[in-house]
Amino acid sequence: MAIPLLIDTDPGIDDALALLLAFASPEVSVEAITTVAGNVPVERCTANVCRVLEVLKLSRQPLVAQGASKPLVRSLVSAGHVHGEDGLGDLHRFSDADGSPRYPPVEPRLAPGDGPDLILECAARFDGELVVVALGPLTNLALALQRDSRRLASIRRLVVMGGAVACPGNVTPVAEFNFYVDPEAAARVLQAGLPLELIPLDVTRQTVLSRSALDGSLAACPGPIAQFVSDFTLKGFAFGADSGEGGLTLHDPLALAVALDPSLVSSEALHVAVECGGSLTRGMAVADRRPLPAQHKRPPNCRVAMSVDACRFLALFLDRLCRASR
Ligand code: BDR
Ligand code: CA
Repeated sequence: MAIPLLIDTDPGIDDALALLLAFASPEVSVEAITTVAGNVPVERCTANVCRVLEVLKLSRQPLVAQGASKPLVRSLVSAGHVHGEDGLGDLHRFSDADGSPRYPPVEPRLAPGDGPDLILECAARFDGELVVVALGPLTNLALALQRDSRRLASIRRLVVMGGAVACPGNVTPVAEFNFYVDPEAAARVLQAGLPLELIPLDVTRQTVLSRSALDGSLAACPGPIAQFVSDFTLKGFAFGADSGEGGLTLHDPLALAVALDPSLVSSEALHVAVECGGSLTRGMAVADRRPLPAQHKRPPNCRVAMSVDACRFLALFLDRLCRASR
């Protein structure tokens, strides 16, 4: 039986790749997608989810709900410079041979209620079975927690892409983007006693996709989906080259892959808190890695991925991407 999955996301180039990975994976059944403001404003994130679904032409559509339009207490900080102003690599640039836009606007079809409501509804419907993968700021999860913490606690796993535990951040010297954007939400979700698995920059930075590997893989499965992937990742590769990452870093696809196969990473049980007060340290993930006896520290509140089999992950990712494109 495929595991029911809910993806909370802010697409985002790497979020869109994670969605494609999920839909090509028989281990899971994507039941719902909720959007959250992050890489771009939430309406754009929703439009981008609908774009991915439109290109995939699935026979069975997941429910889609739009979530929080801003962090719990702060203004939105977005990342159009990384993902394009539309969040998907500026797709308006592409036209077909006859001059018509290759990606005309898609009409969103949304479930009733908002993102946090849909998270809670799925937690109830798939009692004890639902796996949630959170790929953006944790605002929707924090709101779901506020509305019904017991129901949220019934989920089977919560896999979160976020934080920089023992490595530098990617927005500030110490903070990773998803935690930086909504530190209060991240702090509340980490304190909530949920079955949380953290996939921080420490491991995602090791999963860098090269243009040649992607092109080689897509050449084996040409068609509209391969064309779409090639188009929306262009901007991501440009950013990767400028920033010295040497390719497209697969932050969100790695988190999704861990939901499919936890053995891709090795994890440590740690107590992690998120800095909400500091002016230099906003959104910093503070993990207690002191070599003290357990009784002298706060108990672990999550499992943190500290190493990854990057080769095995990249092979899985490219194989599934090709599957999605057929
Ligand atoms: C995270 O930030 C976003 O820009 C990516 O989509 C990913 O979720 C990496 O820090
Ligand atoms: Ca993301």
